[in-house]
Amino acid sequence: MAIEIAETIAARFVDRIGGPLQALREINERLGHVSADSQQVVAKIFNLSGADVRGIVSFYEDLRDQPAALSHIRVCQAEACQAVGSRALTKRLAEQLEVELHQTSARVTLDPVYCLGLCAQGPAITINGKPYARADLLDIGALLGQTP
Ligand code: FES
Repeated sequence: MAIEIAETIAARFVDRIGGPLQALREINERLGHVSADSQQVVAKIFNLSGADVRGIVSFYEDLRDQPAALSHIRVCQAEACQAVGSRALTKRLAEQLEVELHQTSARVTLDPVYCLGLCAQGPAITINGKPYARADLLDIGALLGQTP
């Protein structure tokens, strides 16, 4: 089923400039990640090598090659958020949630992101795609209990 979805999505972007990246982004959004099989589909449809597609997936932080945990936290690591404590927040979350940056535990995935457009209200995070400003003031544990 996932392969058919990936084929359908990739075929829609085949004649577009930037089509492979657009297809990978939509596959990632729809399926939660771009599996090795989906990467093969994109490579075949766009006449690219598997290495080319793996390179795209590994380059872009928002593309995942493995499914995220039920809760996916992304902490902004860009300059404005760093200036107001995003690195300390990342360290605190890693300790509290027992997961390192770029890793997935049974409960949570903790990833970096580079600017969420909330620069004046950092440090900024997303939890399952929902943005939060001034995340250093939030009870993340309580928020995770509220997420599906
Ligand atoms: S620098 Fe963090 S939201 Fe822009």
